[in-house]
Amino acid sequence: MKESSVSSLVDLGKRYWLPVYKPRELVLDRGKGARVWDTEQRDYVDFGAGIAVNALGHQDPDLVAALMTQAQKLWHSSNVFYTEPPLHLAQELVEASGFAERVFLCNSGAEANEAAIKLVRKWAAAQGRGPEQRVIITFRGSFHGRTLATVTATAQPKYQEGYEPLPAGFRYLDFNDAAALEAAFAAGDVAAVMLEPVQGEGGVLPAAPGFLKRLRELCDAHGALLVLDEIQCGMGRTGTLFAHVQDGVTPDIVTLAKALGCGFPIGAMLAGPKVSQVMQYGAHGTTFGGNPMAAAVARVALRKLSAPELLANVQRQSARLQEALRSIGAELGVFSEVRGRGLMLGAVLAQAYRGKAGDVLDVAAAHGLLMLQAGPDVLRFVPPLNISDEDLSDGLSRLRNALHVFVAQSVAHQ
Ligand SMILES: Cc1ncc(COP(=O)(O)O)c(C=O)c1O
Repeated sequence: MKESSVSSLVDLGKRYWLPVYKPRELVLDRGKGARVWDTEQRDYVDFGAGIAVNALGHQDPDLVAALMTQAQKLWHSSNVFYTEPPLHLAQELVEASGFAERVFLCNSGAEANEAAIKLVRKWAAAQGRGPEQRVIITFRGSFHGRTLATVTATAQPKYQEGYEPLPAGFRYLDFNDAAALEAAFAAGDVAAVMLEPVQGEGGVLPAAPGFLKRLRELCDAHGALLVLDEIQCGMGRTGTLFAHVQDGVTPDIVTLAKALGCGFPIGAMLAGPKVSQVMQYGAHGTTFGGNPMAAAVARVALRKLSAPELLANVQRQSARLQEALRSIGAELGVFSEVRGRGLMLGAVLAQAYRGKAGDVLDVAAAHGLLMLQAGPDVLRFVPPLNISDEDLSDGLSRLRNALHVFVAQSVAHQ
């Protein structure tokens, strides 16, 4: 069928989509577990999980059942009426969090962070602090989303260029530079610090031991809030339901999205006791947020991603993946470092291959492996959290073959 050939489908994207993406030239059709098939029936092992979204793989039967059941009852009502799934989901998120009192449900990560930024400002305003006294500290290499406020929080010029004027009120620091923190608070104008416990897009870089604790101390000393963006690193990805638990801190606000819906769009902002009453009627809102279909799916995702067996699998497969990456790295000399936590791992390309992460992804796809990069120098591994021994091993052998070809091609081009 000419109409649905890969090239004709890809041409539709090239012709009709706003050209803000550059997908690899294959068209994915269906998935099961950690495997995906394209329209030509080629199979792939999925080490990317839709950018750390499909945490339970593809077609998880419990997620499918929850979605189908809700789809046959009620799709949408907006927030002018109650429906059941988002009510239960909010309670379950609060109980699972151990710190939050209330939840705002939305549809994406950027929206969850946008809500967090607005909540910080509203909180500061309620304390009588003027606009100049509502600074939010964020970190270089971060990624918080693409709306104007969240792209400003994202301290990376490449995402901001051309969108000026950007909203005021953000101050950027180097990630993990504990020495710079004190001075950044000195002016007495800081309302919050916002960060990812493990930077994702910025290169899969975990907060250094003690960094979050130090931030918590400084926030407490200076009357500021600690906001954690767990959109990528949360929901079990690092081996605990919430990543910050491993840093031993209690945040004031946490944002979630991605794996919260395991592929069905949903975001959430969790608000702790200092801020849970700040936004009152009319202060914020969204048409789709807390949609019953998304919430029905997220309830099941939350239950399954909290299960001790699932979290144990994250730790076990993390150890296997790290060991294999180190061994492939040593064999081929392609990696200078393997880092990350749980099943959020990054392999930093060795000096000779810097800037070539995209090329590796091309070769990997040709070998039946879907992978991600985190910037030009880092390969990012974020497979489904329930990945089996067999799928992980198969993916790793495809990776090894792909890297052999990549190295040979690089040598040939020198
Ligand atoms: C840490 C983090 N925050 C926020 C976002 C933005 O989420 P969304 O793309 O759903 O708006 C992302 C997306 O990659 C992310 O990784």
